[in-house]
Amino acid sequence: MRIERAPFFRGRFTLPGDKSISHRAAILGAMAEGKTLVRNYSSAADCASTLACLRGLGVGITRQESAVAIDGRGLEAWRPPAAVLDAENSGSTIRMLAGALAGRPFRSVLTGDDSLRRRPVERVAVPLRAMGATVLTTEGRPPMTIDGGRLRGLTYDLPVASAQVKTAVLLAGLQAEGRTTVREPAPSRDHTERMLPAFGVRVERDGLCATVEGGARLRGTDVAVPGDASSAAFLVVAALVLPDSEVRLDGVLLSPTRTAFVDVLRAMGGRVEARLDATDPEPVGSIVASSSSLHGTTVDPALVPSLIDEVPALAAAAAFARGEFTVAGASELRVKESDRIAALAEGLAALGARVRELPDGLVVEGGRPLRGSRVRSHGDHRIAMALSVAALAAEGATEVEGAECVAVSFPGFYALLERARA
Ligand code: S3P
Repeated sequence: MRIERAPFFRGRFTLPGDKSISHRAAILGAMAEGKTLVRNYSSAADCASTLACLRGLGVGITRQESAVAIDGRGLEAWRPPAAVLDAENSGSTIRMLAGALAGRPFRSVLTGDDSLRRRPVERVAVPLRAMGATVLTTEGRPPMTIDGGRLRGLTYDLPVASAQVKTAVLLAGLQAEGRTTVREPAPSRDHTERMLPAFGVRVERDGLCATVEGGARLRGTDVAVPGDASSAAFLVVAALVLPDSEVRLDGVLLSPTRTAFVDVLRAMGGRVEARLDATDPEPVGSIVASSSSLHGTTVDPALVPSLIDEVPALAAAAAFARGEFTVAGASELRVKESDRIAALAEGLAALGARVRELPDGLVVEGGRPLRGSRVRSHGDHRIAMALSVAALAAEGATEVEGAECVAVSFPGFYALLERARA
């Protein structure tokens, strides 16, 4: 993808459905009895991977544009898959489905693409084994084989803040004997906890703990998915770093477990406002961002789990901010779709920014003029989008190698960039 400097970035947009919420709506709908209709289902390739895996388990799913209808017949109706379940690039698909499959009395084999087969899944295998499932991984990575069956409830302290692992344990817990409690070291996205009650299941929440009772029966329901909060971050940053710009995003997910990037951008001097329109089951509203003179900041490590996917967008903003921007306590970035710390350092440096890698984060010394260059996505959608946004405000033209991977989370990204700069 070739990106020329943009004169400005303007427009009012609504975004495709949030990826995290779409995965959960599909999985809970497939576990439930009765029909579930998901409106504004994410257009991300990752969320199509979840639907494909669920179909592989015999679940009836029809899709019409952004609406997904799931013919839920309960977990008992899930059938042993005839083939390996391929989560492709999607960590959420493989980890969350592993939890649901741990309680099913058959064998499933889950795998993914080259990137996913390099990522850790032992973190999900450990608690599922403790609940009674037999789970094999390939030196801690996919492919993973799950022989599910009768599970015992568990109280589990998550060693890392991971909403995917938390969700996997809760989905297994719903099928277990007794209660299952997950305690996290720091708050991670809580979409599963917020969505389960709509499916008729009680979740007890107490600080960093979430508890479910085993033997739960889910009832199908309708889910309206708000606009994707992580996609929004890239557009917000584009509006902040370009002159004469303003972007308004309506109907966006404003969960505090996902919008810490807004607070950080504000602390950097960014003119960003979020307005709530609704709060139940998830906070939803609009975000307005306009051209700003940014300065660096140090991100509070306690916030990292609630902005983990937005670090690439923040690093792009930091390249245009005066002074130093530091994020640490984010070693999880090393095991995302790529090593995001290394990929960001490489890409932003190629554009002329001064970036230092930390073992668990990065330091960007911003404010130097960026110039177009050739940069690599490393097959990682969020790296492609972060470098593309930086390229919009860089002098000259940039070639982003492997930019097609944006379809993993935001297929319309480049079309939207075109609309906003014209
Ligand atoms: C997600 C959780 C996060 C995040 C990922 C989506 C989710 O991963 O990075 O993009 O939907 O639960 P971890 O659970 O590995 O932290």
